Amino acid sequence: MMAPQDFIPQIAQWVGTLDETFPGAQVKPYFAHWEVVHLLSLALLGGSSILLNLRLMGYGLTDAPPSEVRRGVAPWLHLGVFGIIFTGVLIGASNPDRLYTSEAFTAKMLCLVAALVLTYGVSLPTARSNGRLGPVAMIAGFVGLAIWGLGLAVFGTGKLINPGLWHVVTAAALVGLFVTRGLTRIIYLVGMGGLIIAQYVNTHIIIKPDDYARLDPTNKIYFGVFLAWILGAVIVQVITAGRGATGGPATRLFAFAALLVWVTTAAAGRWIAFA
Ligand code: HEM
Repeated sequence: MMAPQDFIPQIAQWVGTLDETFPGAQVKPYFAHWEVVHLLSLALLGGSSILLNLRLMGYGLTDAPPSEVRRGVAPWLHLGVFGIIFTGVLIGASNPDRLYTSEAFTAKMLCLVAALVLTYGVSLPTARSNGRLGPVAMIAGFVGLAIWGLGLAVFGTGKLINPGLWHVVTAAALVGLFVTRGLTRIIYLVGMGGLIIAQYVNTHIIIKPDDYARLDPTNKIYFGVFLAWILGAVIVQVITAGRGATGGPATRLFAFAALLVWVTTAAAGRWIAFA
């Protein structure tokens, strides 16, 4: 088990008092209101991150150089990050046992750290220098990837939460659709359509929808195949695009990760409720 209670059992008593003291006690009756602000912050931060990282991948606001896109989105990104952490701490304090016993929350916090490292250590500085990936950003990139990997491992092995990783694959699929070009995009789409139909037929017609013993492993295999297809298409696109004026393959792949790591954080946040 990878819930916070499993590796920091010493704080159990303190956690139990959080919703009886300031600020948890005051927030508790207005949990839903604060959660709305949590999600509005997510919209702000998500939108900013998508614009910034898609630009670094060579898609979207390509009329402006990455440094200009960065200048435009950075204040909103900062506001979104501040807002989501501020409201997260408040709603967390008002319902602390939920988080303390949640493996999804562990995954979420690991991914949040990775998202901060990849955003502030890689995407923003790389956009500032118009796609040039400096040595510090490169190190931050690998550190961010490693922490994200840990978060994904907890998410992927967590009981009753791992279907939440389909959100991440779906987001990756959409990004793949945006950034691929020409023949790569057509092959990618045809393959994706084929996979979607195959999975549906396999898991709704061939295997009966209540036969979980067979459905679970089958869906896991599809998960791997979808992932390989999407990553393959993005890697082919990124390599064939070569070294452009605003960054090469490494810049684009780190930007892809910096976008998806926020999606993983949000997906883990949503799946706190399901375990
Ligand atoms: C210190 C940081 C954070 C804390 C303590 C925190 C805490 C919480 C809590 C307590 C919930 C309600 C869980 C439940 O009862 O089901 C929640 C939900 C959620 N959080 Fe966070 N959060 C934080 C950061 C974030 C970040 C950075 C993101 C996104 C990138 C995020 C996205 C979400 C989402 C999508 C939900 C689900 C909302 C819903 O289903 O209604 N959170 N969070």
